[in-house]
Amino acid sequence: MTDLVVRRLLIDLKPPFARDWCGGDAFSSAVFNALSMSFPYGEQFFIDAVRDTVDMLAPELQARHKAEVKGFIGQEATHRRIHALFNEQLERQGLVDHWTPRAMARMKTLEGNDPRHALAITAATEHFTAMFADWLLAHPQVLDGAEPRLRTMWFWHSAEESEHKNTAFDLYAAAAGSQAWRTRWFRRVTMIFLTDLARQTVTNLRHEGQLWKLSTWRSAARILLGRDGLLRSNLPSWRAYFRADFHPSQHDSDLAGRWLADNAAMFEPVNALRPAAS
Ligand SMILES: [Fe+2]
Ligand SMILES: [Fe+2]
Repeated sequence: MTDLVVRRLLIDLKPPFARDWCGGDAFSSAVFNALSMSFPYGEQFFIDAVRDTVDMLAPELQARHKAEVKGFIGQEATHRRIHALFNEQLERQGLVDHWTPRAMARMKTLEGNDPRHALAITAATEHFTAMFADWLLAHPQVLDGAEPRLRTMWFWHSAEESEHKNTAFDLYAAAAGSQAWRTRWFRRVTMIFLTDLARQTVTNLRHEGQLWKLSTWRSAARILLGRDGLLRSNLPSWRAYFRADFHPSQHDSDLAGRWLADNAAMFEPVNALRPAAS
């Protein structure tokens, strides 16, 4: 079991930021903006999936997973809140989120089904976010030139994604979720997630008038397909999910722990804010 701390991030997202806030790079700003748009709805979906499945477990299993699930829910709820503030700025910039309505319509089709389907989707997406998070922490230069508060937000979210990457997966195993469903959903999530991300990124770039600029596509090739690029360097981790003996902890997350230790001044543990019971 992982001991998950809920942290309140000490940054102010009220002041506006530049449209090309990611170091003046149109492509990476558009990708990060697209991801942020997907978080408030997506992370609520993860919270609901985890909560619904933990209720299905036998009491002794519930007791074993309860503390970690509580930490997971606290972390994802905090991410949602921060990204909603970030997304308010994007809205003011005129960007339109088409991803959330699409995701909502799709997830409606799951209603009334075994909650382990939603949990398999959550575990699959959490593997994606953990891959992205570990990649970003290993390549912090991607955020060079971004304002410190925005760098902090993305690194903090990445560190916590890496920190809680086992939770949904372990819960799925505890709920006797099948291996076949797990890999089937991962394949579908891969298709849907990458298509949605690409569509929203293109929409964002078009809005900014950056879609047909050579510099945008050069940046896309470098960030996605370069030797250390997001897609190319994560291919082995993506493939690993199909192995029967896969577990998220097989991929080390030292960078997440190090970032959290080095940046402790940037957040407050939420539990420490509560007055001691008398
Ligand atoms: Fe998150
Ligand atoms: Fe997560």
